[in-house]
Amino acid sequence: MAYSEAQVLAGGLAHIPIIVGIFGFIQKFILNKTNPNKQTKKSSAQIKEPLSKPSLAKTIKKPDHSNVPVNTYRPKTPFLGKVTENYSLLSDGAIGRVNHITFDLSGGDPLLKYVEGQSIGIIPAGEDAKGKPHKIRLYSIASTRHGDNFKGNTVSLCVRQLQYEKDGETIDGVCSTYLCNISPGEKVKITGPVGKEMLLPDQEDANIIMLATGTGIAPMRAYLRRMFEPTEREKNNWSFKGKAWLFMGAPKTANLLYDDDFERYKSKFPENMRYTKAISREQKNTKGGRMYIQDKVLEHAEEIFALIENPKTHIYLCGLKGMEPGIDEAMSKAASTKGLNWSELRPQLKKEGRWHVETY
Ligand code: FAD
Ligand code: A2P
Repeated sequence: MAYSEAQVLAGGLAHIPIIVGIFGFIQKFILNKTNPNKQTKKSSAQIKEPLSKPSLAKTIKKPDHSNVPVNTYRPKTPFLGKVTENYSLLSDGAIGRVNHITFDLSGGDPLLKYVEGQSIGIIPAGEDAKGKPHKIRLYSIASTRHGDNFKGNTVSLCVRQLQYEKDGETIDGVCSTYLCNISPGEKVKITGPVGKEMLLPDQEDANIIMLATGTGIAPMRAYLRRMFEPTEREKNNWSFKGKAWLFMGAPKTANLLYDDDFERYKSKFPENMRYTKAISREQKNTKGGRMYIQDKVLEHAEEIFALIENPKTHIYLCGLKGMEPGIDEAMSKAASTKGLNWSELRPQLKKEGRWHVETY
């Protein structure tokens, strides 16, 4: 029988775990020979095989994302999507402005298709101060591939209007203001989709830990709809059976985004969904400061690390760039209580395709 190059390569790759296993065995044997006391000196916490070892030994095959669409529409030839909805996601008393905006994608040639966890680019109408067309801004997609109407022909975003003070003047962000002000019927230049960092695994029994601040909830909303929204489940033929745990950070209760939907999922799927909120300006952390999601991560460190030990667990981080050091610090502290080293574990989770970060 003739073998194709791909088959030979696949055959070769299939032997890697065996070779790695033999190499590990020889390495262990040599280490024990050269330093027989090494193991007996360790504390009981350290004796526990570090997380990194078993999860590496069982190295999970990274999913094949080659079919995920990217850059169907580029900046020079964007798709013109028609706005179908634009409404506020905030309740009375909230800080700022955050809107849910939906675009009709029908009629594209080729069709603009995407999957959960990707982003699209928006080119705001008008010109910049130099008279040049505005540059693209990226936005995480907040809908599933079937769209909010389940017809597969729309995309939705969750956009916070950027506003800041400079020299006593309020400056409005160009694209976020354009999007928050846009009316149904208007056409918008859309590019993409882009991104493969935040895709969901295929397994129905995967565990998904989500850490979101503000509009970082956008991809999480798409995941949670894919997992728990009844019509979406019928459409996608993907019966999620794992644990989904959302940590959401917002300044006030009135700023929580899609909260009613998440509460509904939690009550319908209590075995599968957990929802932990850090309301920074209403709750206090143990030091008396603002409650951030990293404080909640620390509070639940034991359970989070028990989940991470399962190679089917993925962690997704999305939202403010500023939260990354805080999350890292919390994970380091939590890891060390289990005798683990986060600075080794994190790159390993990344290598295994289980640590997903998109911050801005
Ligand atoms: P601009 O007019 O471009 O102004 C931004 C600039 O203003 C900054 O570059 C900085 O120079 C300046 N600036 C900002 N804040 C201050 C300040 N406090 N003081 C002084 N100067 C300041 N946004 C969302 O709302 N939702 C999303 O889902 C989302 N997803 C994203 C996904 C990705 C992958 C990326 C990269 C970004 C995402 N963003 C998202 C952010 C989004 O792309 C834009 O950056 C954001 O909307 C601001 O764009 P703008 O045109 O309104 O602001
Ligand atoms: P705060 O603004 O009270 O300091 P939004 O985008 O709606 O403003 O929500 C972002 C949330 O993330 C807010 O609750 C904000 O708190 C919080 N936040 C701000 N900085 C950090 C940080 N470094 N780490 C984690 N959360 C943060």
